[in-house]
Amino acid sequence: MKKIKGLSLLYTPDDIDGAVQRLSYEISEEYRERKPLLIGVLKGSFIFCADLVRTLDFPMEIDFVRAASYGMVGVSSSGVRLLKDVEQPVDGRDLIIIEDIVDTGLTLKYLYDHLMAKRPASIKICALIDKRERRAVDVKLDFIGFTIEKGFLVGYGLDYKEMYRYLRSIYILKEEL
Ligand code: PRP
Repeated sequence: MKKIKGLSLLYTPDDIDGAVQRLSYEISEEYRERKPLLIGVLKGSFIFCADLVRTLDFPMEIDFVRAASYGMVGVSSSGVRLLKDVEQPVDGRDLIIIEDIVDTGLTLKYLYDHLMAKRPASIKICALIDKRERRAVDVKLDFIGFTIEKGFLVGYGLDYKEMYRYLRSIYILKEEL
């Protein structure tokens, strides 16, 4: 595995693939007959979404939202704003929100409430990484890839100041530059 200065390897592509396959199995068991609408949260989840949907072999639709938190880059704050809403009708649909990482939980809480107001039949949440240490609000994650306590993670869609999203593995940033 290629070493990258300033980063320490956390999950290899094989680790990630294993987690995606397991999540795919769990989601398929529950949603095979329900034609769910998967909602990816941009930008971080774009690679995870692309890999996940290609392992699901039943009818579904996919859409995206984009949320951003106010505050400093790299730091979640209490304010979240919506930069892009869903485009598909949500009313009466079974929704699965697809997140790359849940940290404070504020982004997800905002999105959950925002989507719930559009009267879907149900909402469940799939997160590749559940990072616990800084959780500020209670969010129920229904499908979880990995759980960690802390660490600033990059790669596989996750960025630090827009860098590293393209990496195939997930790394811990050793120190913020
Ligand atoms: C990241 C990540 C989640 C959110 C989680 O997105 O993709 O959406 O932060 O943090 P929280 O649980 O503390 O709210 P970010 O706002 O960095 O935007 P990006 O997806 O475009 O990188």
